Amino acid sequence: MLAELTYRCPLRCGYCSNPIGRHSRSSELTAQQWCRVFEEARALGVLQVHFSGGEPLLRRDLPGLIAHAHRLGLYASLITGGQGLSAERLAGLVASGLDHVQISLQDADAAIADAIAGRAAVHQRKLTAARLIKEAGLPLTLNVVLHRANIDHTGDLIDLALRLRADRLELANAQYYGSALLNLPALLPSRAQLDAAETLVQEARNSLAHRLEIVYVRSDLHDGVPKPCMHGWGSRQLTVTPSGDVLPCPAAARIPGLDVPNVRQASLADIWFHSAAFNRFRGTAWMPEPCRSCPLKEDDHGGCRCQAFQLTGDPAATDPACGLSPHHALVRTLVQDAESAPDTIPYRA
Ligand code: SF4
Ligand code: FES
Repeated sequence: MLAELTYRCPLRCGYCSNPIGRHSRSSELTAQQWCRVFEEARALGVLQVHFSGGEPLLRRDLPGLIAHAHRLGLYASLITGGQGLSAERLAGLVASGLDHVQISLQDADAAIADAIAGRAAVHQRKLTAARLIKEAGLPLTLNVVLHRANIDHTGDLIDLALRLRADRLELANAQYYGSALLNLPALLPSRAQLDAAETLVQEARNSLAHRLEIVYVRSDLHDGVPKPCMHGWGSRQLTVTPSGDVLPCPAAARIPGLDVPNVRQASLADIWFHSAAFNRFRGTAWMPEPCRSCPLKEDDHGGCRCQAFQLTGDPAATDPACGLSPHHALVRTLVQDAESAPDTIPYRA
């Protein structure tokens, strides 16, 4: 379960996939409501909670939330930008039962990283936080959203992960939702950039297999192969938003007519098994052609529903990232247009 505690965030990354606009604290679930959600999640069979955002450290009640999840037997993972993670704050989270931390990095170069985050000295605070996490004995994942401005630094990012003694490095090509979709022309890397990065990752995986796990999330816009988004709709993951909406994926709220359920009105089990939203694209019966008769439909689940909606207006369409989609020309045009777009570092809308 992804627990998005708040959409508030001190950073301004242009690849942000959270909903666009200002987000107030007043609509967020209370600690008591979150604790009930964790209890229902555990009863439903959830094993891991990713405390995310926005920036989850902006919730001062975070230690109590982690402690409750820990008491229930949930694996507690913190997904943070690392701003405001002092040794004292981290000690409190560790004492509460925190199991793992993921820090996002914008780049290996401090000046470029700060420019991408839209704020000064961000990178240095992230490095400090990463060192504190290792000193506290917690497993550390570094996550880097790759785009045109940083993908050429893949080798430096791997070196940085080694210096920080990270256990895992996630190099994830940007997913184009929210601000990222608006900024796509400035963010999308070229085919040559992707090829160079993938070669470096493969070489590093071969040579560093016992020191660093490297996860690479490829771009699905360049090669006609859709991503198996969320491992299938309503299959193994759920997202609870700051206001208690429950979604099959973090971007699903934009799909029209989804009738989004909320933990204030229904239990998680009811939502998971019976809500119209979670059943809308579950399995394969909803698929149109060419997915319906495609031998790959159990593997990629027809791609991404949110991307299908964003690009075609129809969330039930075959993902245009697929080369077999009748709308695949839309993706080819996006890629071509991005190649001639100027190199700028955009900010969150
Ligand atoms: Fe996947 Fe559908 Fe494309 Fe087949 S046609 S590869 S199931 S998205
Ligand atoms: Fe929503 Fe892919 S991001 S289904």
